[in-house]
Amino acid sequence: MADKHATLTLPSGKTVELPVYSGTIGPDVIDVAGLLKEGYFTHDPGFMSTSATESRITYIDGDEGILLHRGYSIEDLAEHSDYLETCYLLWYGTLPTPEEKAQFVYNITRHTMLHESLAHFFDGFHHNAHPMAMMCGAVGALSAFYHDVMDIRSQRDREIAAHRLVAKMPTLAAMCYKHSIGQPFMYPRNDLSYAANFLYMMFGTPCEEYVVSPAVERAMDRIFLLHADHEQNASTSTVRLAGSTGANPFACVSAGIAALWGPAHGGANEAVLRMLDEIGTVDQIPRFIEKAKDPNDPFKLMGFGHRVYKNFDPRAKVMKASSDEVLAELKVVDPRLKVAMELERIALSDPYFADRKLFPNVDFYSGIILSAIGIPTSMFTVIFAVSRTIGWISHWHEMISSPYKIGRPRQLYTGEAQRPYPSN
Ligand code: CMC
Repeated sequence: MADKHATLTLPSGKTVELPVYSGTIGPDVIDVAGLLKEGYFTHDPGFMSTSATESRITYIDGDEGILLHRGYSIEDLAEHSDYLETCYLLWYGTLPTPEEKAQFVYNITRHTMLHESLAHFFDGFHHNAHPMAMMCGAVGALSAFYHDVMDIRSQRDREIAAHRLVAKMPTLAAMCYKHSIGQPFMYPRNDLSYAANFLYMMFGTPCEEYVVSPAVERAMDRIFLLHADHEQNASTSTVRLAGSTGANPFACVSAGIAALWGPAHGGANEAVLRMLDEIGTVDQIPRFIEKAKDPNDPFKLMGFGHRVYKNFDPRAKVMKASSDEVLAELKVVDPRLKVAMELERIALSDPYFADRKLFPNVDFYSGIILSAIGIPTSMFTVIFAVSRTIGWISHWHEMISSPYKIGRPRQLYTGEAQRPYPSN
């Protein structure tokens, strides 16, 4: 029940009392659902000031640069937790006891293999298909294997679907890569950690032993952790919208992968590296900064800016520290890094970026780390999709667990009014 109200005066002069709700933290929210019976909708393209749901999973304060999962800060999780523990937290709402963690890791590890028939799907993809295209198709195809066996109204079935998704995404992601380079798929290894197993499936071959470097394993786990969830972003909202129709969760996650792919969202980490390649050398940076500032030029500095963070991206801070650590440990010499560091310095001191509160976001640094550990650029967004799967499925589960309606936005129609069909 709302204890506050907002009063809205309609064009007719009639006033309407709208309930105002307070969350645990964050701004109050005006409930406009009652406007419909007065004959009005609200209009908010891009959902800049629209809350689509009540949620208990993740909180972001964009002005203060705060990101909390179930109340724990992303900085604390990055320091004290690991990816699978964060998955447990997002799904179940609490940090696991050591026994719960061990059981969860066991459950995930035992679901990493795929139905052998799924491997044949890859034969249909051309070798140079973009890995995100293959990922959309392959994850959607999972719904063909787990459809009749799952009832989305059953909490246990939803939990098994979540375990399957978290477990199988790295296997599928590595298969996309292996297909693109013509190497045999590597079966998952249950004795390795989540991150190490992924690296093994990516870079191992049947011909020789592949040993995962602990520094790279740590960096990979941190990348997974930092991307695990981000509240009601475009891809999560897509998964929720698809899920609100009662669709199969594997199909919903495939829809989320499609939404993530765009360069304004998850595709930004790939776009950052392509941009660094395009800039090429430090002396070219001023030209690209001018292009980014030109309102008539569509060019944007990839990895800069965020819809919600208008001060700094807390994930970027952790990612930058991680990137410094990895680069030092791996002794990577990559000319793109010089360009990236100089770009960051110039952009941060340029009033255009300061005035618009444009700061490097998580993808600016994740692209640099992924490149340093040898991940091909086209796989960057796939790795984001692997990480974000737990966020997508946790929000889907939260929605299905309480009463919900099919998501169905309205519109401000500005087309032709009804007109007669011309007679000849
Ligand atoms: N380079 C140059 N100018 C920019 C940039 C940029 N990266 N981002 C925003 N602007 C300008 C924009 O042109 C506008 O200027 P003006 O007010 O003069 O018209 C102003 O800043 C406000 O931008 P906006 O487009 O209204 O902001 P938004 O909140 O709608 O967009 C964004 C946010 C992330 C889509 C956008 O900043 C962007 O396209 N950034 C580059 C892509 C990127 O790095 N995306 C990854 C986001 S983090 C990962 C994730 O969570 O998905």
